[in-house]
Amino acid sequence: MDMLTRIAALTAETLDAVWPDAADKPDAAALRGFLAVPPDPAMGDYAFPCFRLAKSLRMSPIQIAQKLADTWAHADVARAEALNGYLNFFLNRGNFAKETLETVLAAGGNYGGGTEGTGKTICLDYSSINIAKRFHIGHLSTTMIGHSLRRIYDFLGYKTVGINHLGDWGTQFGKMICAYKLWGTKEEVEQGGVDALEALYVRFHREAENDPTLEDQGRAWFKRIEDGDPEAMEIFNWFKELTLKDAAKTYDMLGVSFDSYAGESFYIDKMEPVIQSLRDKGLLTQSEGAWVVDLSEDNMPPCLILKKDGATIYATRDITAAIYRQDTYHFDKCLYVVAYQQDLHFRQVFRVLEKMGYPWAKDCVHVSFGMISFEGQALSTRKGNTVHLDDLLHDAVEKARAIIEEKSPNLENKDEVARQIGIGAVVYADLSNNRIKDIDFSWSRALNFDGETGPYVQYTHARCCSLLRKAAELALPAADYAALDDDESQALLRLIGRFPDVIREAADKYEPSMITRAVTDIAQAYNKFYYEHRILDGGDAAAAARVALTQATRDVIKTGLWLIGIEAPERM
Ligand code: ARG
Repeated sequence: MDMLTRIAALTAETLDAVWPDAADKPDAAALRGFLAVPPDPAMGDYAFPCFRLAKSLRMSPIQIAQKLADTWAHADVARAEALNGYLNFFLNRGNFAKETLETVLAAGGNYGGGTEGTGKTICLDYSSINIAKRFHIGHLSTTMIGHSLRRIYDFLGYKTVGINHLGDWGTQFGKMICAYKLWGTKEEVEQGGVDALEALYVRFHREAENDPTLEDQGRAWFKRIEDGDPEAMEIFNWFKELTLKDAAKTYDMLGVSFDSYAGESFYIDKMEPVIQSLRDKGLLTQSEGAWVVDLSEDNMPPCLILKKDGATIYATRDITAAIYRQDTYHFDKCLYVVAYQQDLHFRQVFRVLEKMGYPWAKDCVHVSFGMISFEGQALSTRKGNTVHLDDLLHDAVEKARAIIEEKSPNLENKDEVARQIGIGAVVYADLSNNRIKDIDFSWSRALNFDGETGPYVQYTHARCCSLLRKAAELALPAADYAALDDDESQALLRLIGRFPDVIREAADKYEPSMITRAVTDIAQAYNKFYYEHRILDGGDAAAAARVALTQATRDVIKTGLWLIGIEAPERM
């Protein structure tokens, strides 16, 4: 338990012991909010301002502080002193160090993990790329936030289902087949992959400006897909395969995988009963020839279900998909990691599910995120101003490789480490801000070994590993944790102590960046400790304690990086 929470709980207990009958006493959670860190460490590690209780206890803060100090019976955790109406706590630093480190080291790499999710299932819809389109940097956030959340929930014992809800339905695929039949060749497309498909699509639109019959031909091909015509299906499935083959390379580099690739087309034959049910429940109304669910009571535009021509849309498929997922996986939560531009879409979809009477509609959550720009430039597929994700990742690895060549020319397996650092730099940059904020990706920031970056945290991890290798060669006695009573050790221990709480908060808020922040703080605190203390000096019980702290730091950084999808090289 985080120390603040613990002191708050013990204060609540003490409060009860002194004033068992007092009405409206704050509980432990409220007390936790009142606890402060005094600006001057001489005033204690934490302070409780007793004026907060003056009203409910009808007593002066000075008297309250004195009473509490006299009754406080937890000197093993902290000493409590009354001063000017404050109850100041001085942690028992040695005990705190011992407890924290024993807990981390006994967990053997699982420190912070848990079983609270046992028996619960979380579906995560993330990455969800579009067929016949290159994987561009705009898809990085959905992929990495989703991947990280998945690892976080796994670590807390949940069963997770990773779903890549492919964008594989729409009239554009008719146009693409049409373009392929007119101007494409098998070899060209096989070789060019998604790039060749994109080029065909662009050509279709260019030529359609002068030849309006093309649109009709495109529609006719889409109709053939809808009807399951064998030739149309064969080409369509081949396009899908090519796209997924390309995407697999990117997923491999990022270490990302899915349990299901059931995309939009998967729901085509499952929509009819859902539309019927909407009709039976009296939710469908006609509007200008189309069928919609009216959401005016909710101050939202109507949710379009069937177009004038009877075609379903994106929302129809999402409603069907949600029902399918609940029936199939019985999820306790279904998360949609999708950019904030689709905010209205998901509010509409979730509201329609609620109106249909599904109590689990409240368990569907849109985990939205901001835009990514590149070196200060906004990206737009329409203007052709895009950055392909695999290019970005390859560049990152190459740049990391050049830095390694310069900094550690003698390193073994440079290629492997360059890959870990390059990808880590990109992923860290993506997950270092509150997800709803827009981010700008910049090489100089991402690859700076001294800033708040992936390489910096990885380097700190490697530094711990190197120290532990040296320590293993010494015959150190058992650790004397009381030696870790200095401010640097204590600051680091506190961050390590609250790491399990950070994981839970990140899970509750769907916010991987909290873990990025925590590992960065831990890395910085470790480096401060490292510069102030000669860790192995003396080879005594105090050195052994510093080594234990180093080992705990290494474990926590490794876990934290894992949870945000970054590898932790042991040497770099
Ligand atoms: N393919 C969509 C896009 O790239 C994202 C799909 C998100 N998931 C969903 N169930 N709608 O914009």
